Amino acid sequence: MPNLPPNSVDLIFADPPFNLSKLYPSGMNDNLKTQEYISWCEKWTDECVRLLKPGGSLFVWNLPKWNSYMASYLNNRLTFRHWISCDIKFSLPIQGRLYPSHYSLLYYCKGEKPTTFKPDRLQMPICPHCCGDLKDYGGYKHKMNPKGINLTDVWLDIPPVRHAKYKKRVGANELSVKLLDRVIATKGVSP
Ligand SMILES: C[S@@+](CC[C@H](N)C(=O)[O-])C[C@H]1O[C@@H](n2cnc3c(N)ncnc32)[C@H](O)[C@@H]1O
Repeated sequence: MPNLPPNSVDLIFADPPFNLSKLYPSGMNDNLKTQEYISWCEKWTDECVRLLKPGGSLFVWNLPKWNSYMASYLNNRLTFRHWISCDIKFSLPIQGRLYPSHYSLLYYCKGEKPTTFKPDRLQMPICPHCCGDLKDYGGYKHKMNPKGINLTDVWLDIPPVRHAKYKKRVGANELSVKLLDRVIATKGVSP
């Protein structure tokens, strides 16, 4: 990143290690002391801020705990757009804690507002059994945008990519392509 020119990138999506003692093929240390991990994140965040074009967007995918530190750091450097909660399916309960049910996806832009913003519209949710609408839209369904409902900051439809047979790269901690497609669409740039 230090070799890239400043103000040259439209969109950055960061999926850093979560510091959960995971063994990565790269062999990097995923068990840093809290302050060490945060300082490392701040270091690459500084590069992201430098690289983004004015109006460019930064998305950071992490656990809510780490993104709370990241948000505090980013609030002094970029403009907050959204804290997006991505529903986690099939996570494990942790004793003495609430059941973890979302990943955090921070969305910031450089400068006052993003140069482009074209969020997806979603299909109206239907019952998988009878295929009828799950909501009645207060009787105003006919007035809804036929392209779908507005995207919210709670994403319930991002599937996990866990099983090896769904991965394209052996050993990689791949995210769902749907997540990246949506991020790219939101920024409104061509992949
Ligand atoms: C949570 S995983 C994300 C993987 C990613 N979604 C993918 O599909 O490859 C974090 C990744 O960051 C990589 N990583 C950790 N430290 C790094 C560093 N200093 N520079 C580049 N990559 C690093 C790890 O090897 C790991 O692949």
